Amino acid sequence: MKIAILVSGSGSNLQTLIDQLHLDSNSGVEIAVVISDRPKAYALVRAKKVDIPTYVIQLKHFPDRNAFDAKISGIIETHEVELILLAGYMKIFQPPFVRRYRYQLINIHPSLLPAFPGAHAVADTLAYHTKISGVTVHFVDEGVDTGPIITQVPVPVLDDDNESSLHQRIQIEEHKIYPQVVKWFAANLIHIDNRRVIIKQE
Ligand code: GRF
Repeated sequence: MKIAILVSGSGSNLQTLIDQLHLDSNSGVEIAVVISDRPKAYALVRAKKVDIPTYVIQLKHFPDRNAFDAKISGIIETHEVELILLAGYMKIFQPPFVRRYRYQLINIHPSLLPAFPGAHAVADTLAYHTKISGVTVHFVDEGVDTGPIITQVPVPVLDDDNESSLHQRIQIEEHKIYPQVVKWFAANLIHIDNRRVIIKQE
């Protein structure tokens, strides 16, 4: 199964997907393309190291967001991918893109949604002083971090946590669960009943 990964930053999730899936010939998963909206994203270096085709597509070069999304869509179609993963990608898609890839577009978010959506989930968690945080993997819909939840993993918030220490522990869980979700998807084990997502037994 060919997948596309969209990134904006460091790409530690991309790295784990490269290591656990792309470089494992038994996984049946190939990362066919990595697309970044930021030319300096370190994720691009990670992809290039293992010869995955990369593209930098910057919003400022397009007249509007629909044209920007259409460019990304064109690349995705060229590479014939079945699944698109957002891995730290910081742009919001317009409804036509989301509708086109409904249930083929998945995001990972560093909180237990619906708590703390948006770009500052870890800081917002610490400011609210919840005792539990975690990871959510969800399908993308037209809202911001509102799509049907595929799976969640809790992570305790410690008394002396700062943004970096909590995010680091959340990422340890991200790096386990994201490859697992891709394996479920590839094995056709993810079933969707409206907002309810069920993982069939392996
Ligand atoms: C992750 O924490 C993910 O949950 C969020 O952005 C971060 C990306 O990290 N959406 P990385 O670039 O994969 O290291």
